[in-house]
Amino acid sequence: MPFGSFKDVLKDAQQKGYAVGQFNINNLEFTQAIVEVANEEGAPVILGASEGAIKYMGMEYTAALAQVAARMSRVPVLLHLDHGGSFDMVMKCLRNGFTSIMIDGSHHPYEENVAVTKKVVEACHAIGVHVEGELGRIGGVEDDLSVDAREAALVKPEEAVEFVQLTGIDALAPAIGSAHGHYVGKPELAFDRLKEVRSLVEVPLVLHGGTGIPDEDITKAISLGVSKINVNTENQSAFTDTIRAIFDKNKEVYDPRKYLGPGREAIKEAVRAKIRLFGSAGRY
Ligand code: 13P
Repeated sequence: MPFGSFKDVLKDAQQKGYAVGQFNINNLEFTQAIVEVANEEGAPVILGASEGAIKYMGMEYTAALAQVAARMSRVPVLLHLDHGGSFDMVMKCLRNGFTSIMIDGSHHPYEENVAVTKKVVEACHAIGVHVEGELGRIGGVEDDLSVDAREAALVKPEEAVEFVQLTGIDALAPAIGSAHGHYVGKPELAFDRLKEVRSLVEVPLVLHGGTGIPDEDITKAISLGVSKINVNTENQSAFTDTIRAIFDKNKEVYDPRKYLGPGREAIKEAVRAKIRLFGSAGRY
């Protein structure tokens, strides 16, 4: 089928109380694994492409991979810019047929975040493309924040209300203490913030940094109103660990298919577990 609609898949998730997985793509094998398992599980799926991944694969290849995957699919497949950093980048993605955009202005002061997000929303909405914005700061685990810095990075619920109103975004990623990459200790999600934001804004909420959050915390976040969860590192690790084990066992292997194939299978099983955990299996 053609690409799915960001607003439609998230609306269904929000109404029925599950979360759609955004799984980032890094190459052909990631794209195949994610979309194959989404079809096997009957789950909608968002392919996330970061600026780094787009630079690595090339814009045209990124878009083409996702388009072919969607066309061969019986479940909704989307292509979403992950953490877009500039208006220029957004324009390039729109030209190449991305279904939705995340503009991440969270490293700017609040007013600038509002301004760049609003500008992106106006351009995207003019051609029917939906937009996710970020408020507060979702760091990397290497950031190792102090308690005060962590508190300062969390979303401010009253700001979230204004941010949604001023920008017109279709989904909000509020910083609630999750981070990108492998966690050093146990992640502490600020569920009280999440609850408050959920009660104040109507747009679907997004949880970034899905790798390494305990299953019960994922389930709780969904029950408190998260409708989209992003995962990348866990799939990267599954892929690389599998390939490393093959190399450790057999130093003679040279045919890429002999290790990329098993790597792709490992991504499939990691994504399958997340799709089931998120409650998105069997929806389509
Ligand atoms: P992880 O790499 O920690 O799973 O986070 C992915 C993400 O949030 C992409 O936006």
